[in-house]
Amino acid sequence: MSEQPEVKYGRPSAAPQVGVDAGDARKPVTVPEIRGRKGGVPLTMVTAYDATFARMLDDAGIEMLLVGDSLGMVVQGNADTLGVTVDDIVYHCRAVARGSRYAHVIGDMPFLSYQVNPEEAVRNAGRILAQGRAHAVKLEGGASIAPTIRRIVEAGIPVMAHVGLTPQSVHALGGFRVQGRDHEAAARILADARAVEAAGAYALVLEGIPGELAATITEALTIPTIGIGAGVSCDGQVLVCYDLLGMTADLRPKFVKRYDEGHDRVVTAAQAFRDEVRRRQFPGPEHTFGMLKRPVPVTGTG
Ligand code: KIV
Repeated sequence: MSEQPEVKYGRPSAAPQVGVDAGDARKPVTVPEIRGRKGGVPLTMVTAYDATFARMLDDAGIEMLLVGDSLGMVVQGNADTLGVTVDDIVYHCRAVARGSRYAHVIGDMPFLSYQVNPEEAVRNAGRILAQGRAHAVKLEGGASIAPTIRRIVEAGIPVMAHVGLTPQSVHALGGFRVQGRDHEAAARILADARAVEAAGAYALVLEGIPGELAATITEALTIPTIGIGAGVSCDGQVLVCYDLLGMTADLRPKFVKRYDEGHDRVVTAAQAFRDEVRRRQFPGPEHTFGMLKRPVPVTGTG
């Protein structure tokens, strides 16, 4: 039986790098595997922003970890995603890549990191892979951004596309609103989905659209669709990790299922810590270091 080394102080060493765990049945999740899951067992993707969460989600068997620009809202506390920078994404991607062993890590391209021109887009996407150690990038937009997707893909960088409710366009859309509810808007989103597939995207996030439209797009494409607020027919589902864990106290969007009440659990645990400290119950003897035991000095000549 192999024993875990005892950790006396500090933290366990970083997760082993991909492929180092000899004899482990799990394999790193790759782009071809994700493409191959089209129409098969649904894929799961969860956002992650740090190594500890990445490790837990990876241990849970989540196939894809998205370092989303949602970090602007849930980590940085802003009202939207617009202030996130490429440096932010690179920084958080590195942490997630260090913490995960098998999951496919995707770095979100932030606002204005790919819209200005394709050269800048390729350079920024390259940084997310080279410095952030992500395996792919995600970017928002349909037909109008398809030529840029093609250029990034031609540089050898896998691109996950994102259509429907695209949060970087929050002001143009007039808020975080469901898209594609009438026939013209639905037809435009379907055309966008076809355009990003033709440009070489290996998967497509469908956000905030009616379930029927997501089903039609999923049927029409050969690449997997990953839904968020897009019904059950997609080839996979994605949630923001804090939403999935119920960490947000006052935000309860319709499309989110809270699999735990993380907010209440964290508050309860922190209150227990506060109360034990105030009563001097923590730290106990089991959490306290003692002096080294020295051998009793031998005195005299015998
Ligand atoms: O930034 C993000 O977390 C996302 C998901 C909601 C798909 O883009």
